[in-house]
Amino acid sequence: MKTQIAPVRTSTQRADAIEAAVYLLTGGYPVALPTETVYGLAAWALNPEAVFRIFNAKERPRFDPLIVHLPSLDWLTNLCVIPNEDLNLVQELTKQFWPGPLTLVLPRKPIVPDVVTAGLDTVAVRISAQPLFKEIIEGFGQPLAAPSANRFGRISPTTAAHVFDELSGRIHLIVDDGPCEIGVESTIVMPSKGVLWVMRDGPVTRRQLWDFAEVKTSPRKKLPQGPGQLKSHYAPRTPLTLLPRDAVPLPAGKGPVGLLAWCSPPQEKGFAHVEILSRTGNYQEAASTLFAKLRILDSMGMNRIIAESVSEEGLGIAIMDRLRKASGNG
Ligand code: TXA
Ligand code: MG
Repeated sequence: MKTQIAPVRTSTQRADAIEAAVYLLTGGYPVALPTETVYGLAAWALNPEAVFRIFNAKERPRFDPLIVHLPSLDWLTNLCVIPNEDLNLVQELTKQFWPGPLTLVLPRKPIVPDVVTAGLDTVAVRISAQPLFKEIIEGFGQPLAAPSANRFGRISPTTAAHVFDELSGRIHLIVDDGPCEIGVESTIVMPSKGVLWVMRDGPVTRRQLWDFAEVKTSPRKKLPQGPGQLKSHYAPRTPLTLLPRDAVPLPAGKGPVGLLAWCSPPQEKGFAHVEILSRTGNYQEAASTLFAKLRILDSMGMNRIIAESVSEEGLGIAIMDRLRKASGNG
C-alpha cells in the first residue's frame, strides 16, 4: 500500500484532503489526521472492521482501549451514560474545556463496539479543537476512534513526517496540517462521585481541574499494566536516562551521548548533540517540541540520551510524565 501525504496549503488542496479523508473513513479505512495534541490515526468508531484496521496498522494489542473523538457535544449522550451525581461536573468540564485537550472516561452505552474499549465498561471521549480535524469529523458526521498515529510503544507523532516514519505502507492517507500546536497527548480523567481521577497528565493541568472538583491520581495510572501505562510506552530506541537538572554529568564511557536540556545546558561540552526544550523556560514551547526533539536525538545513533528533569508544576507534570515513560520508568 502506498501512503499519500495530503498537504492543505491552498484552499483546493484543503478541500481535496477533506474529501479524500471523508471518502476513506466512510469506506472503513483509517486516516492519519492532525489534532491539537498529536497526530491521530482515525477510523469510524462505530464500525468494528474499521477499528480493527487501526489496531493492525499500529500493531497495538487489543487490550489497549482507544479514545473516541466526537463530531459534537450532542454525541456525548449517544455513547455515554452520565450518572446523575456527575452530570453537573461533566457539563462544567465540557463547557470549559471542549473542544480541547481533555479526554473524559465515562460509562459507555452498548452502541460503542467492544473492540474500541477493549471490553471495558467505560469509553474515553473528547472533542478536538484542531480546525481541520473538526471539519473532517463534522463532514463525516460520525465518531472517530483515534489513538496517536505511531506504532505501539513508540513516541507520539507531532508532524506528518513522523507519522510517515511510523506508518508508511500501512495506511492510505496522512493529512498534513503542519506541526501540532500542543505536542503532548490530552489529559485523561474519569469523573466519579464528584472526584476527578487523573489517568494521564496532559495539557489541561491538575491545577485547572481543581477549580471543578477534587483531583486524585487514578489507581490505574499507578499500575504498570493499566491502560496506557505499559512499560516502554513512548520509548525511543536509544536508552534514555532522566536526571535532576543539577546532576547531569559530563558524558563518560563509550560512544556518543545526546542531551535533551531544559532551557540552557549546564554542560554542553562532551555531548555529541544537544537539543534544548525551551531557551526561555516556557512550558508550552517545551511541550510542543518535546517529541520532535526526542525523535531527532533518537535518530542520531547515540549510545545514550540524557534528559534533564523539568520542575513538576503546570504543564511540567505532563512533560515529566512523558520523559519518565521515555526512560522506561513510566
Ligand atoms: O491527545 C490525545 O489523546 C491523542 C489524540 C490523537 O487524540 N490520542 C491518544 O490516544 O493519545 P492513545 O490511544 O495513544 O492514548 C489513549 C490512552 C491509552 O493509554 C488508553 O489506554 C487510554 O487512553 N484509554 C482509552 N480508553 C480508556 C478507558 N476506557 N479507560 C481508561 N483508559 C483508557
Ligand atoms: Mg498513544
